[in-house]
Amino acid sequence: MEPIARIARANPADTVELAAVAARTFPLACPPSATPANIAAFVTANLSEIRFAEYLADPQRLVLTASHDNRIVGYTMLIRGVGDDPDVQRAVPVRPAVELSKLYVLPDYHGSGASTALMTAALDAAVEWGAGCVWLGVNQKNTRAQRFYTKCGFSVDGVRTFQLGAGIENDYVMVRSSMR
Ligand SMILES: CC(C)(COP(=O)(O)OP(=O)(O)OC[C@H]1O[C@@H](n2cnc3c(N)ncnc32)[C@H](O)[C@@H]1OP(=O)(O)O)[C@@H](O)C(=O)NCCC(=O)NCCS
Repeated sequence: MEPIARIARANPADTVELAAVAARTFPLACPPSATPANIAAFVTANLSEIRFAEYLADPQRLVLTASHDNRIVGYTMLIRGVGDDPDVQRAVPVRPAVELSKLYVLPDYHGSGASTALMTAALDAAVEWGAGCVWLGVNQKNTRAQRFYTKCGFSVDGVRTFQLGAGIENDYVMVRSSMR
């Protein structure tokens, strides 16, 4: 059977569509307690067309898209390293590490295999970068995503806080230490 989603490296022509998909899918990762104002502030600051153009130009990052019928239905972003957060540095056991910063799919494509295709391509890219492990942060109330990441070989190694607009959210740090 032909896979439902085609995975590709994002290019500058994708930024408008990426920002639109990001604005639709980011709220799905937030708990009910997150306020619309805090979610909107985060989207404006981090998921605009301009920010995606910056991400695409950054050699430390890789953005992959999942498309169906020539429309972007999901995306993921990898970032080299662990960043500055001491909680993350403690939780992530191996260097070099790569962060799976975002993996978001439109609701109509949940359960379609698009997420798995994005994850497979992301892990392949991390291996190409020489990663010894891949890590991510996921909201502690986002049980669907946690289940998905567990199916993909990640396990909880720690916690961190996450600034959402003016609010503070609680994440698990999940790590996949085996790159095979
Ligand atoms: C997270 C995401 C990428 C996963 O993709 P997906 O296509 O939904 O993943 P799958 O359907 O393969 O797997 C989800 C699993 O969670 C299960 N699940 C569904 N709802 C659930 C819930 N409320 N609680 C726990 N598990 C749940 C599903 O049954 C499935 O498990 P199974 O295959 O053992 O039956 C996708 O749901 C998504 O884009 N969500 C919104 C954005 C988001 O939260 N992104 C992650 C940010 S860190």
